[in-house]
Amino acid sequence: MNFSNELITWYRNNKRDLPWRNTNDAYLIWLSEIILQQTRVEQGMPYFLKFSEAFPTVKRFSEASEDEILRLWQGLGYYSRGRNMLKTAKRIVSDFNGVFPSAYADLITLTGIGEYTAAAISSFSNNEAKAVVDGNVYRLLARYFGIDTPINSTEGKKSFQAVADDLLDLNNAGEHNQAMIEFGALQCKPKNPNCQICPFIQSCYAYKHQKINDLPVKLKK
Ligand code: ADE
Repeated sequence: MNFSNELITWYRNNKRDLPWRNTNDAYLIWLSEIILQQTRVEQGMPYFLKFSEAFPTVKRFSEASEDEILRLWQGLGYYSRGRNMLKTAKRIVSDFNGVFPSAYADLITLTGIGEYTAAAISSFSNNEAKAVVDGNVYRLLARYFGIDTPINSTEGKKSFQAVADDLLDLNNAGEHNQAMIEFGALQCKPKNPNCQICPFIQSCYAYKHQKINDLPVKLKK
């Protein structure tokens, strides 16, 4: 089995049932990804449920007042996310006919959406072949391949993106990307991962060379 098939098998057996995984509505996926940008899954979950109930469509979101958004956002921090979301929702209504875009090229033009989020929304909603690279993915790639380029350097960002692009299952990009994130979050954890139950124990560079605690490398700036 190749890497992606092995990974997806692991994912199907181990994944958490998270509400934003049961939809291909780009708007709901956007909501979840912005909430999860600086927030852990357990903390973000109730906010996702609250927001998706209060604003089931991007049109409804766009009609909210900033006060209303910020009140619901209370406790999550980084309030610029909430403000940017309102701007973006209004723009979807004015420029995209109220239909939340699922194409990477459209998403990347929106306020508050960078490369990671555009790749996440386009692949989860429409299987577009864009590889996601977040903290979970950096960790898993650095360890598995033994990449010691700092993840917060320009060179590192480029080379990790290239490796992630190479691994991507082009026919199943959404599930592959979810699996990469989930594997980093549950199995290839930052501290004390249980490598004895890892499907990649035979082929992982960091395990073989006892470098689990040294990878990924992050520059102190
Ligand atoms: N963190 C960011 N996006 C996520 C997702 N789709 N599933 C789980 N954790 C995430």
